[in-house]
Amino acid sequence: MSVASLVSAVRAQVLGLLARRFAGVGGPFAGLSMLPDKLLWPLHRDGLDPVEEMARRRDNEPVSRLGAPFGIRVWLVSGYEPVREVLSSLDGYSNDFAKFAGQVGINVRHDPGGLGFADPPVHTRLRKALTPEFTMRRLARLQPRIDQIVAGRLDALAETRGETVDLWQEFALPIPALTICELLGVPYADREYFQKLSTARFDLEGGAGGSLDAIGESLSYLGGLITEQRANPGDGLLGSLIRTHGDSIDDRELAGLADGVLTGGLETSASMLALGALVLMSDDAMAARMRAGEGVDETVEELLRYLTVVQVAFPRVAIRDHRIAGVDIRAGDVVMCSLSGANRDMQFGADAEKINPGRPGGRSHLAFGYGIHRCIGAELAKMELRTAYPALVRRFPGMKPAVDASQLEFRRASIVFGLESLPVTL
Ligand code: HEM
Repeated sequence: MSVASLVSAVRAQVLGLLARRFAGVGGPFAGLSMLPDKLLWPLHRDGLDPVEEMARRRDNEPVSRLGAPFGIRVWLVSGYEPVREVLSSLDGYSNDFAKFAGQVGINVRHDPGGLGFADPPVHTRLRKALTPEFTMRRLARLQPRIDQIVAGRLDALAETRGETVDLWQEFALPIPALTICELLGVPYADREYFQKLSTARFDLEGGAGGSLDAIGESLSYLGGLITEQRANPGDGLLGSLIRTHGDSIDDRELAGLADGVLTGGLETSASMLALGALVLMSDDAMAARMRAGEGVDETVEELLRYLTVVQVAFPRVAIRDHRIAGVDIRAGDVVMCSLSGANRDMQFGADAEKINPGRPGGRSHLAFGYGIHRCIGAELAKMELRTAYPALVRRFPGMKPAVDASQLEFRRASIVFGLESLPVTL
């Protein structure tokens, strides 16, 4: 078997890592549904914390074997330095989805496109086109709209005063959904539909098949929107990309970029909003500082580190033999970088497992990844969090969870960690 075909075969199996349910998954992904639970434990949590095994591995074997499904070696990288080494390697790993196509029932229809599953030079060309849409100056134009969106949600919450309300549905999800729709130029009426697609993609309850179908559906919706905008480019990011790069970026690539922005920015920011609100409800001193507008920026950074909602980076496939932290990685091996593990590394101090806003070096966390695939929406996400947290605790200083901590429903094995719902009394 050539290295290229070996890598292709390995890549096809990576999708298997997405499967959570091992029995009863039908369709072309039935063959991928036989994954042992031991591959998925890095996505489990103990409350808000990574499970104990993560700390044990990080401290003793920062690069360790996760398993060998289908004979493919899968590595877990959980130490801060080795994770940075993998994510910043320019010639050691591939993210390219194209290599999945034609393997075990996966076809090109499932390629989500966008930046996350592309390697240079395609990644470089597309990222360069998207970057100007995310400069501080461009984003500053969205701030008044974000203020309005947050105020609108708080007003809607105030109307339910006295009753139990689901902060996830009424606050955490709508804020990023409306912000991204605004950024892209997606019609408001479609936002609920997109929330559903995004959730289906990241929550692996339905297995890999459900996740890939959601990607296909989202791309076909965006295809329609792009056709409309080609004829009549709007003010949002899509219209702007069409005006500036309409000839050099084809419709499929545009749909992939838009899809990456939409889904990349929705579930992630929503989870941060909900989990951050949960932390603020349990920490009176932090909530008081937030209410007074003190240290908002450093608290947001620390919540990003502590909660690390994107638990693992996209799977990388090694494209040459090399060593990380003294461990031999072979071409074709799959590497999973645990961002939640790396962000609790002693690198952040002896109290890395605790929340400590303003800790020395706290801003060097990996919640947005590192290297060429580092989150393009990081600044936008922080704008949303810096706006929404203080506004929430000011408006509802007495807000508390409506259920006991033991009854909160956390996602069990989702790439994006979060809550299923967050019942509160205001
Ligand atoms: C708190 C919120 C967010 C978190 C924690 C987060 C986290 C991440 C992480 C960890 C990566 C890198 C994955 C890897 O290297 O494998 C990433 C990439 C990405 N994120 Fe975010 N993200 C957030 C919000 C957003 C927003 C608001 C947008 C867009 C509006 C966005 C769009 C993207 C895109 C397009 C990529 C792919 C970049 C590339 O491959 O070059 N994200 N994000």
